[in-house]
Amino acid sequence: MPTKLVLGLQHGDEGKGRVVDDLVQTWADVVVRFQGGGNAGHTVYDRRGNKFVTHILPVGILSRETINIIARGCVVDIEEFCQEVAELNVKPGANLSVSGFCPIIEPMHKIIDRLKYQKKLGTTAKGIGPAYSDFYARDSILVKDIVDFPEESLIKIQSKFFGLQEKRAQDGESLEDLKPDFDLFNNWVVKYKEMSEILGLYRLNNENVLQDYYKKSYNILLEGAQGSGLNIFSDNYPDVTSSAPSVGGALNSTGLNHNQIDEVIGVIKSYKTKVGSGSFPSIITDGQEKILAEVGQEFGATTGRPRQCGWLDLDEVKHAVLQNGVDHLCVVKTDVMTHIERPFFFVHGRKYKMTKIRSVDINDVGFDELLNTIKLHTEINKISFTTGPRRGDIVWFS
Ligand code: IMP
Ligand code: MG
Repeated sequence: MPTKLVLGLQHGDEGKGRVVDDLVQTWADVVVRFQGGGNAGHTVYDRRGNKFVTHILPVGILSRETINIIARGCVVDIEEFCQEVAELNVKPGANLSVSGFCPIIEPMHKIIDRLKYQKKLGTTAKGIGPAYSDFYARDSILVKDIVDFPEESLIKIQSKFFGLQEKRAQDGESLEDLKPDFDLFNNWVVKYKEMSEILGLYRLNNENVLQDYYKKSYNILLEGAQGSGLNIFSDNYPDVTSSAPSVGGALNSTGLNHNQIDEVIGVIKSYKTKVGSGSFPSIITDGQEKILAEVGQEFGATTGRPRQCGWLDLDEVKHAVLQNGVDHLCVVKTDVMTHIERPFFFVHGRKYKMTKIRSVDINDVGFDELLNTIKLHTEINKISFTTGPRRGDIVWFS
């Protein structure tokens, strides 16, 4: 009865999407997204190099045979959900369901995020933090509220939105300033009835279904978004996201227990990237960061923002390994490192020079050194790695 959990152990954008995609092709029956929302962007290239990006939908949606669930720990923007479902042509009643207990991201949440947190913390402005704030304050409108009581829910959403606009007016914003948000909101309200009906077609009808699948020995894959460095329960607070990309977050959201997680796979890039505010001790400033950014295509899949690049920080990885009981590491974008003339890694608070990596091959001195350095400092011997960007370019530990 195996359940695998895929977590990012850095600052998001480790390449979890393609690792999940590989397991979908070869192993998983069910894929569960358990935290975050449309702030995530999981990029997958198939064998021909065609690119797919998912935001709120689990990566398993790229395969018709896989069952996909958005669990209650996720926040759902119903407009983006409907768009993504339409773009990827996901038929209702087929292979996607969303928990009735997911809080929705209201238009108001996106406005607050844009006005208050986008500059301050470098958030994605997708409304994630404000939506989770309402959840913990127990003021959320849940998916089931929208589906079962669409009119009452709309009245609540409207009154929250008007309350915000009133406060903005009291704080001195002119009607002209407020108008674009009124327009956006009215637009949303026009589409609301249709969106709530579409959402209803995908609502999960059995909230305990994962325990049932587990009993039936289905292969269950729990798909993390973001990464340990962005965990709200981390020392990086407040430069974090508002959910827990961790074993703890997965258990809370899915209703599985700790004995039911059989393998925790931690995904790391062979260097590191970060978007948004917060300290970045291993940041590169010798010009080689530009090569990583260009060859590694380090631009946000959701926001298009350039990502800052740094050396692989093994202090951070070791911490995440311990905290999550990681069993198995998957090292990605090793091919990108072959373009770097003077590679380093970072451990115990300082950087160390490495041998140049000439090719992604365990007989290459530089590559062998990279894998052994990771093993030494994380004490994880089970290491898989990718050899290129496409589906199938992955060597699993055996
Ligand atoms: P939020 O999740 O939009 O609230 O943003 C909070 C922080 O997390 C910001 O620094 C974002 O750049 C970062 N962040 C959120 N989602 C992702 C992601 O999927 N990849 C990388 N960074 C992310
Ligand atoms: Mg991403």
